[in-house]
Amino acid sequence: MPNRVPRPRRFLVCDPRHFAVQYAINPWMHEDTRVDVDLARGQWQELISAYRAHGHTVDTVEPVAGLPDMVFAANAALVLAGRVFGSYFRAPQRRPESDAYETWFKTAGFDVRKPTSVCEGEGDLVWTGRYLLAGTGFRTTRRAHREVQEFFGVPTISLQLVDPRFYHLDTALFVLDGGREGNIAYYPEAFSPGSREVLAALYPDAVIATREDAMAFGLNSVSDGRHVFIAPRAEALAGELDRHGYVPVPVDLSEFHKAGGGIKCCTQEIRP
Ligand code: ARG
Repeated sequence: MPNRVPRPRRFLVCDPRHFAVQYAINPWMHEDTRVDVDLARGQWQELISAYRAHGHTVDTVEPVAGLPDMVFAANAALVLAGRVFGSYFRAPQRRPESDAYETWFKTAGFDVRKPTSVCEGEGDLVWTGRYLLAGTGFRTTRRAHREVQEFFGVPTISLQLVDPRFYHLDTALFVLDGGREGNIAYYPEAFSPGSREVLAALYPDAVIATREDAMAFGLNSVSDGRHVFIAPRAEALAGELDRHGYVPVPVDLSEFHKAGGGIKCCTQEIRP
């Protein structure tokens, strides 16, 4: 069993004080859903504490009233080698979030490139350390994949999502450890047959999740190469990760599942 070595990360997050479910733009959301904001804030604090306890740096962006999904920081951008490719949301309700995050990035000293077609940041763009895996089908467009490849100059591989429950790539796949020899975990049924073949060819040793794991937001996890911050109800997946030498760190974000989000959705990674 390899000794899994954690690498410290820098994360950007957004306090959920204005979090709510006010519109329905994915199958998890229902307009009549009540969110317990205090419970959500408590769960979110647990996530931040878990990151810090494991040596990660956490920055926060000020939430904006009237932008209930702004807590899903992952969707705001993709940051590689200190360069920021911003977002352009499909849903008009979410579009103003891009400017709010852009302001944060600029203040922090980053330039931001704006996409010209729908692009939802790390929701659909997953950097493996070698390839940029890019989801499409529900949100981010293939045109945005081409744009992002041109901007970063990294091999960008389009993957077709087919199940509306897994509307963002980060609900169906996450990176266990980056780099050339890196590995991923994913739920194959979220992808078209051709995309499944691509993933099987690139990652023959991937950790495969069950539908139950995926429905519990188990693929919406964050790994530092050793610790995997993961939804506690993704039990089979946690067991599988343990067998592969990773250390599952359960963090329950059940209030956020009501909006179709989980751990990774709440976490933007800033790669220096
Ligand atoms: N309600 C949000 C939406 O549908 C949830 C976003 C979840 N974020 C993610 N990275 N998957 O857009």
